Amino acid sequence: KTLIWQVDPSFIPDRIIKDAAQIIKEGGLVAFPTETVYGLGANGLSPEAVARIFRAKGRPSDNPLILHIADVHAVYTLAKDIPPAAFRVMERFWPGPLTLVLPKQDVIPREVTAGLATVALRMPSHPVALALIREAGVPVAAPSANRSGLPSPTTAQHVWDDLAGKIEAILDSGPTGVGLESTVLDLTEDRPVILRPGGITTEDLQEVLGEVSVDSGLAAPEAVPKAPGMKYTHYSPQAEVILVEGTPENVSRKIRELVERYTRQGKKIGLLLTDETWRLLGSLPVTYGKNMGTRLNLAGIARIIYGELRYCDQVGVDVIFTETYSQEGLGSALMNRLLKSAGYHVINA
Ligand code: TXA
Ligand code: MG
Repeated sequence: KTLIWQVDPSFIPDRIIKDAAQIIKEGGLVAFPTETVYGLGANGLSPEAVARIFRAKGRPSDNPLILHIADVHAVYTLAKDIPPAAFRVMERFWPGPLTLVLPKQDVIPREVTAGLATVALRMPSHPVALALIREAGVPVAAPSANRSGLPSPTTAQHVWDDLAGKIEAILDSGPTGVGLESTVLDLTEDRPVILRPGGITTEDLQEVLGEVSVDSGLAAPEAVPKAPGMKYTHYSPQAEVILVEGTPENVSRKIRELVERYTRQGKKIGLLLTDETWRLLGSLPVTYGKNMGTRLNLAGIARIIYGELRYCDQVGVDVIFTETYSQEGLGSALMNRLLKSAGYHVINA
């Protein structure tokens, strides 16, 4: 059985944090909110506890986990050969949606890092996450709390849908803020490399570090990314996802055409579109239509996109048509996830 505890982030009850931390200390699994997505936490120093994370998620064992910490000093006990760049970004972006890949110390079990010589570290900014990690007194290994391959969970309900019965508890603090996962930044090479675009943008990092490159393995469907997790089919609902690219005029014309064609084939359709496109579209006979807001507010779209992809599955949609975004700011994280959920299926309008 899985217990759900409601935890108001502005009034965190000690009792609940103690109980949840106790579960982690005893080798159990607790899902908890972060500012990005919900995480599935376990004692990051216990090989057995970490192994349970992989089983609960159905996660390939060669995909390493992020260790979550609540105190910067933990970096010294978990990582070594820490370059000055690491301190500069920690100072600026921690706590927050940035994960640093650094050479690992021996205390970290190989289950966490999937045998790599490096470890991913992150200090989340969500007060409930910080309270839990602090109380647990150990680094908390936590992937996103979804079944492997599905979109990451941005509410406790999403976690329940995927993992009920497989984990001890869920801390429910409502919907998460960023809605996409943290940026993974590799600091083990001569130059900083973004392995996964996320909540902290490339532009943010460049401001502090100067030159920052993006892992070339992320670019094309055939390339091999450096973050093991980026190579798997991911973020995908059951429904087929198709991206439609072009001006709002062309996209809306193409969507009308696609809706007609797929409806004729008996397909149930979901539309996840921006306000700019809906304006030109008017109403269409689809199973589910969502106006995700203006494309000028990418943060608003990022916050809800995973939930919307999941919702389309709930209402039994066969195919989801959605749009592309420019790669600026949060756009690069959003596009990274959308391209993967669509298996790189993009239609030019
Ligand atoms: O926002 C987040 O980062 C969320 C919340 C819960 O903190 N966590 C999360 O974890 O997204 P996960 O396991 O779903 O994704 C971690 C990513 C994977 O792509 C993994 O391959 C990569 O980080 N990663 C972890 N350790 C690594 C390492 N040592 N070297 C390269 N990539 C690593
Ligand atoms: Mg994940």
